[in-house]
Amino acid sequence: MAIHRALCAFLLILPTIVDTAPSASSAVESATSALILSHSVSPSLSSASSSVASGSSSVSATATSIFSPASVSASGSTNASGSSNIPTITSASSISASFSTNSVSTNTTSGVLTSSAVNATATGSQSFNSGSGTETGPITVPITPISFTPFPTPSSPVGVPEFPSVDPESPPPPRDAPGLGGHVPDFSGAWNKAYARAEQYLSQGWSNEDKVNLATGGGFSNGFCVGNIPSLHARGFPGLCLEDSPLGVRLTDFVTAFPTGLSAAATWNRTLIRTRGLFMGQEHKGKGVNVALGPMMNMGRIAQGGRNWEGFGADPFLSGESAYETILGMQAGGVQACAKHYINNEQEHKRMQESSNVDDRTQHEIYAHPFMRSVMAGVASVMCSYNLINDTYACENEKMLDDVMKREFGFRGYIMTDWSAQQSTMSAAVGLDMSMPGDISFGSGTSWWGQNLTDFVANGTIAQARLDDMATRILASWFFLRQDVDYPPVTFNVYNTLDGNNTHVDVQDDHFTVVREIGAAGAVLLKNEQNALPLKLGKGGVRSIAVIGNDSGPAIRGPNGFTDRGGDDGILAMGWGSGTAQFPYLIDPLSAIQSRARKGKKSSERAIVTWWRSNWELAGAASAATEQDVAIVFVNADSGEGYITVDGNEGDRNNLTLWGNADALVSVVAGVNNNTVVVAHSVGPAIIEPWVEHPNVTAVIWAGVPGQEAGNSIADVLFGDVNPSGRLPYTIAKDVSDYGAQLVTGGDAAAILSIPYTEGLLIDYRWFDANNIEPRFEFGFGLSYTTFQYFNLHTSVISQPDSDSKLLEDAWAAGKATLIAEGSTTALWLHRPFVKVQFEVQNTGNVDGGEITQLYLHHPASAGEPPSVLKGFDDIYLHQGQKKAVTITLSRYDLSVWDVVHQGWVKPKGKITFSVGASSRDFRLKGSVPV
Ligand code: BGC
Repeated sequence: MAIHRALCAFLLILPTIVDTAPSASSAVESATSALILSHSVSPSLSSASSSVASGSSSVSATATSIFSPASVSASGSTNASGSSNIPTITSASSISASFSTNSVSTNTTSGVLTSSAVNATATGSQSFNSGSGTETGPITVPITPISFTPFPTPSSPVGVPEFPSVDPESPPPPRDAPGLGGHVPDFSGAWNKAYARAEQYLSQGWSNEDKVNLATGGGFSNGFCVGNIPSLHARGFPGLCLEDSPLGVRLTDFVTAFPTGLSAAATWNRTLIRTRGLFMGQEHKGKGVNVALGPMMNMGRIAQGGRNWEGFGADPFLSGESAYETILGMQAGGVQACAKHYINNEQEHKRMQESSNVDDRTQHEIYAHPFMRSVMAGVASVMCSYNLINDTYACENEKMLDDVMKREFGFRGYIMTDWSAQQSTMSAAVGLDMSMPGDISFGSGTSWWGQNLTDFVANGTIAQARLDDMATRILASWFFLRQDVDYPPVTFNVYNTLDGNNTHVDVQDDHFTVVREIGAAGAVLLKNEQNALPLKLGKGGVRSIAVIGNDSGPAIRGPNGFTDRGGDDGILAMGWGSGTAQFPYLIDPLSAIQSRARKGKKSSERAIVTWWRSNWELAGAASAATEQDVAIVFVNADSGEGYITVDGNEGDRNNLTLWGNADALVSVVAGVNNNTVVVAHSVGPAIIEPWVEHPNVTAVIWAGVPGQEAGNSIADVLFGDVNPSGRLPYTIAKDVSDYGAQLVTGGDAAAILSIPYTEGLLIDYRWFDANNIEPRFEFGFGLSYTTFQYFNLHTSVISQPDSDSKLLEDAWAAGKATLIAEGSTTALWLHRPFVKVQFEVQNTGNVDGGEITQLYLHHPASAGEPPSVLKGFDDIYLHQGQKKAVTITLSRYDLSVWDVVHQGWVKPKGKITFSVGASSRDFRLKGSVPV
């Protein structure tokens, strides 16, 4: 059988990988660590350890100024460079010389887990996860010849209806998701065709230099996009434009500023998430972008995490479904998506010098899951992160790149570095495929690849087959998305928006409609006493409205006044950093509320509106709110990427309080107005204990960070044009210390900071559940203007016509771990709908509205799982009184846990039960899994 062939081929590779891991002497290791540290931050190889500190800060400074459109002048050379233009370190011999001490360093945990490492993980006694502090130094890839055999093509049954052969242009619709009883798409046919075309193209005279140039970015700011693969004229290859961000096309005009990933996830609505992805994909393509650098799927492990708003929250299943739908949408729009940042980049503090120490089971079940779903969506590229994982830098981490991503997930696209996250030339040998932006540090004129990679291949240190594989993967992804045919040219220049190359192509279409819709659908109603909301205008309703707070109106500097949105003034509609786009306009709540309050035909159906924008002049706020029928206080909390500091917050939030004197503002308004409504635009959870129980705070809406239609979206919810159905994608705690994981700070300039993921599987609500901690608002929570009831639970096993996978299914049913083989974790049989859970939901209130039904598994205690884990959800829209049948399905993968000893997915022994309900703590129906 094909799986057996795959397994044999893998096992042939295995000894090679393990054999290349000589043991270390600690003295050499620490000498090496000083040198390697300098690689990440210092442009100069000669001034290794002394330059670490200044190197590090100059990286941030460079990024800040160079990404500022106002401060940068046009860069002359663009996509035209060939190998001669690619910066290299002066000579390969100087590299080898400076590397000679590395050749005896250890690679044990970066390679395939050895059995002792596996056992240590199984018993939870692994030394790398034992505390905080600093690491001794990174484990590096030795410079010794490493052979390479490309992974065989993952097998897949052809023509079986459960796995329709799918092209990225026409993915199955969101209602056909495997988790709703739909189809598992099989992209292997489309990949096979793309591989054949890539191989054929490469056979047409591509030299090693050409292949290396395809894999090495042209250097920071050499080109129009944030990353550029120069064109190869002789080969007829036009080059590649790689461009941020996960919420739109960054640093150009006439584009849509979409809602953040977090707001999209808060809708729990696959159709909206898919549509957002599709529109973003179309805009990227319309501007000539080949590779859009998103979605971002690092987990909201710590509430303070600076970039959490770019991602999809704190639960792997919700993040996985969101990543899956976003990628299917983006690639249907024609652009190559990029799943980032792989992996464990959950905080900004010291992101280039921290080791996230994660055990193998947690890695598989929590952090790698969204990346696995990305591979199932046919993602074309993956970006490895800045940080280290268990002491090995992510971009040369053989375990995560080769073994998990390429072998276990069967990923067929290419892995690029985050910007200057590369550490060595040898990274090519352990799974890295593309260097971005190509230089060692921004503008250094040196590269780990370029001439160095050519030389390493020429002298046999890196296998020719590996270079061929890199080039094949990059070209195959290009063919996979049909970018070889009539692809639009790049029509902007991120380094100079005034440059002539910016022809102001308008790609917005009517995409604002989905921005507005997601903004409203992702707003979470947390509190609503005495039916304070929706606001009713007219007789007996609200006649006067006070709008309070800086967040309610426009920023003094305009929507794009802070470079990369690095400032908090006015309505907060995205965080800061590279995950941003220029706002084409920004509707603020005050304008939207004023216009909505005057919509009524008769004056008796309208309300008057006053406002007070200052958060600090509390007496004025109190006076504006006095005697008004309702006072709506707008507050916010901001965060972003670490290269920009805002108000002392270096990316991550320093604390979880709302910004700008917000608690005092709410309290003072609630002190004078007994119908105070609070709206928070927040990048994540905040502690709202100072006022949430105040009797005059009648309603609270957690409105996310919703993009350019922010004001319209919230007005839609406030006035009841949209009945809120958003649900929290994370837990809001009563106290910071209630969270199971905290931001790790400190660490001196040269040291690698330890970040032990000691909470393991107990991320977010799982920690609260396991430790009986009462949250303020739990994960999955959200109110509606109506009520819903759940009835008639049925479960059944789905019969399957496919006999090909019967042996594998029987082995799984007998409690055997899945095989170690290429594509073993993404194998289609493992993901097909297996158990059907059906129930009915009725709208029992007085208005139409949407419910998010959620399914949580409860594993037997022996499985070592958290008390409840989300494994299914659906969004249901019901008119008043309407009842609908809902179907959520579970796959064998959904029911499995990761077996660290056998390195496969296994069905736990004993009875698995489940709950269906409206949040992670509001269970309405209970059942057990009939297997
Ligand atoms: C960020 C990436 C981004 C890249 C290019 C890095 O600093 O971590 O998310 O795609 O820059 O702008």
